Amino acid sequence: MAVSSDPSSPILLFDSGVGGLSVLAEIRKLLPDAPVIYAADNAGLPYGTKSEAQIAARVSGLLGRMTERFAPRLVCIACNTASTIALGMVRDVLEIPVVGTVPAIKPAATFTRTGTIGLLGTEATIRQAYVDRLEREFASDKHLLRAAAPELVEAAESLLRGNPVNRAIIADAAQKLRGMPGGEKIDTVVLACTHFPLLENELGEAFGADVRFVHGAQGIARRIASLTSGQMFERAGPDFALFTRDEASCGTLASALARNGLMRMDVF
Ligand code: DGL
Repeated sequence: MAVSSDPSSPILLFDSGVGGLSVLAEIRKLLPDAPVIYAADNAGLPYGTKSEAQIAARVSGLLGRMTERFAPRLVCIACNTASTIALGMVRDVLEIPVVGTVPAIKPAATFTRTGTIGLLGTEATIRQAYVDRLEREFASDKHLLRAAAPELVEAAESLLRGNPVNRAIIADAAQKLRGMPGGEKIDTVVLACTHFPLLENELGEAFGADVRFVHGAQGIARRIASLTSGQMFERAGPDFALFTRDEASCGTLASALARNGLMRMDVF
């Protein structure tokens, strides 16, 4: 596997939209000097309602072209939907390390006291065999309840563009899990979509104080730090975001990106 010796070679962080910012925040804590390009396939958003074939083609095509253009040292797919479908394929075509984001069922299984875990993801994620495998491997003695909450993707996108969160939408998402048989016993919820930690406070109010949320962002940041350990980092210029569709007119989004150290928005 190729290892970058160029200290300005970036980490390329990829999501369908702003969800990957929840992962970027954790990467910043461990690797503050790492140059980052944040890539959002907003022209393809939402991924959660697309077919496996559509997602696999988009993700591997875009990451192939972005890698050719920007020569990153590592790619992180900061998206559960894309990772559970296309991680293997992307690893096959790129010659650099590729870190994925998969539902945090393993830690959730160690945290639950009631033995009932909820999982909120996109429609595409919750039906993946990858998730079945994680359940079999790490939570076979637990009760895992899965629900799709595509409206939370939209709510997180809207929040980052300065719009207030509609609490009824959050309450509905919580009720999807709570309303399932055994749902009242849920004490741990896997946020299996990178958009959802951006709504963790609101979800906390909807589920109540006894529920703990688990997601993969910290683990991903640790994995990236370990894979790049010993490498030099030096920014050649400010970090920036790439969007597959022009969003240049949204000043609130630009400010949210700037708070994450992404100082301009380019179109790819
Ligand atoms: N952020 C993505 C994930 O983690 C999905 C959002 C979408 O539906 O595009 O699954």
